Amino acid sequence: MAKSIAVSGKGGTGKTTIAALLITRLCRLGQTPVLAIDADPDSNLAPLLGLNSRKSIGDLREEILQEIKNFPPGMSKPQYVEAGLHQIIEEADGFDLITMGRGEGAGCYCSLNNMIRKFSDDLTPSYSWVVIDNEAGLEHISRRTTSNIDALLIVVSDNPLSLHSAKKIEEITDSLDTRIKNRYLVANMVQDHRLPVIHDRLSDIGIELLCDIPFDPELEELIYKGETVKELNNSPILDHIDEIINKVGGLNANS
Ligand SMILES: Nc1ncnc2c1ncn2[C@@H]1O[C@H](COP(=O)(O)OP(=O)(O)OP(=O)(O)O)[C@@H](O)[C@H]1O
Ligand SMILES: [Mg+2]
Repeated sequence: MAKSIAVSGKGGTGKTTIAALLITRLCRLGQTPVLAIDADPDSNLAPLLGLNSRKSIGDLREEILQEIKNFPPGMSKPQYVEAGLHQIIEEADGFDLITMGRGEGAGCYCSLNNMIRKFSDDLTPSYSWVVIDNEAGLEHISRRTTSNIDALLIVVSDNPLSLHSAKKIEEITDSLDTRIKNRYLVANMVQDHRLPVIHDRLSDIGIELLCDIPFDPELEELIYKGETVKELNNSPILDHIDEIINKVGGLNANS
């Protein structure tokens, strides 16, 4: 069964960067195949992984609603949906990417959403890992779109509002049966001299702090130049990414 990690937290804390690094490291460690899910309607995981975004599930959903009366003869709606879903999987070296795209418009999506969910559920067991990059905010958690996952990473930075978001995520996931096995805090880009204060504030949240990922100017520069996170070598950040993989997967990722 695939191990799954979902990355959540306030806007700009580094969710997409961490998701991309996790995917890249898992591939390098041979923990493949990996299913990468970009669940942010803003869809910016693909460029960090060196891929072009393709049609998203949101696009497909709209297309099906438009085309519903013109299905090819002999093709049922589930067959059409399945054929479309196979097309939107972007295949790369060691991993596949699915982009969720924007949410639902005004049409009736229930049966479609059920088909899409079934497709995803059927797909998941063929992967070793699933890594989900979530949108900022709490809606995806309260709507229970984040479900059946082994680890929810809650990323915080030294922005006090990110700590506030983390607390809210804790409360929501405490109160809902979201089927999240474990939750971990990850502090990202916190300046060294602020770490004691941030750690102190994080102690108000009853969730283990898994690691402190430092700010790496080389990583920032790579992303600025539009390069992929694969280009990052020998960064101390990678040890922390391995620490996350180790914790969630029970692997020895240091070998
Ligand atoms: N550890 C790090 N070291 C250096 N730069 C980083 C680090 N983590 C993130 N960044 C930078 O911070 C910026 C924001 O990161 P990212 O896009 O991953 O955040 P996000 O939480 O996904 O944002 P959003 O909520 O908008 O989706 C990126 O441009 C990236 O360059
Ligand atoms: Mg993002």
